[in-house]
Amino acid sequence: MQLFDSRFDRGSVWLVGAGPGDPGLLTLLAYKSIKKADIIFYDALLNEQILSLAKPNVQLVYVGKRGNKKSINQLEINKLLINEAKKNKRVLRLKGGDPFIFGRGGEEALSLKLNKIPYKVVPGTTAGIAGLAYAGIPATHRDFNTSITFISAYGAGGEKPETVDWTSFTKTSQLIVIYMGLERINWVCSELIKRGRDRYENIAIISNATRKDQKILISTLENYSKNFDKNIIDSPALLVIGKNVLLSPILNWYVTNKEDINFLKQNKKKYEQHNFI
Ligand SMILES: C[S@@+](CC[C@H](N)C(=O)[O-])C[C@H]1O[C@@H](n2cnc3c(N)ncnc32)[C@H](O)[C@@H]1O
Repeated sequence: MQLFDSRFDRGSVWLVGAGPGDPGLLTLLAYKSIKKADIIFYDALLNEQILSLAKPNVQLVYVGKRGNKKSINQLEINKLLINEAKKNKRVLRLKGGDPFIFGRGGEEALSLKLNKIPYKVVPGTTAGIAGLAYAGIPATHRDFNTSITFISAYGAGGEKPETVDWTSFTKTSQLIVIYMGLERINWVCSELIKRGRDRYENIAIISNATRKDQKILISTLENYSKNFDKNIIDSPALLVIGKNVLLSPILNWYVTNKEDINFLKQNKKKYEQHNFI
């Protein structure tokens, strides 16, 4: 099989998405780029097992940014990519998920373009799609939704995302997938209820999606708006709000979730309405 355009030239940068964790979700292009790269700049969310695919003499450079911890800033990363490409290396910028979804891939591409460095973007499966699939939540289901909204719970400077029109998306979004929302889960749930969402609507938290330690918790907006103990689940995590969440305890195929049976029993009425079980 011939890939369309897979030449990884020296002096160029590839911005590549590696998916949310399971190495099996790497695309052929991502796989090939890891094998070929002379230097790899990788993120905190990358499953480091994936790096073992690289050639023996590869340079591996960690440039992760996690939460409030002091870490390398974006301008420094941009400069590193440019400098290494100018040394005539094959430079790989490897990111969790997709590079253009809440991944600052756009900023890196712009800086490469402005500095006349050839680059290529290789999409990856974003956590908000793969994570739902591995939790048994179809991102669309004809009974429930014809749209999905992806939201980041953090603005560019770490603030709450005020540029998002919370009132209108609360009213119109059928399925809401929130990235980086765990730290702000009380606020997110309260805000959704305040703007008109049903307080008994289900919310799923999917942590470490597609990894061996994936965990799913399902509750209601009201419950998580009041008390949520962040110690019971790890980041990275997604928040998923909408009726599709009801399918998780039935379709969850990846990791056994002991709470599924209880949830099904406790929410029998909701399921009866839909003839799912
Ligand atoms: C900076 S964003 C990066 C998103 C990434 N570019 C993508 O497309 O998936 C980080 C957030 O993505 C979500 N995320 C990434 N990987 C995840 C995983 N394996 N499980 C759950 N959430 C994940 C979490 O909400 C996390 O806080």
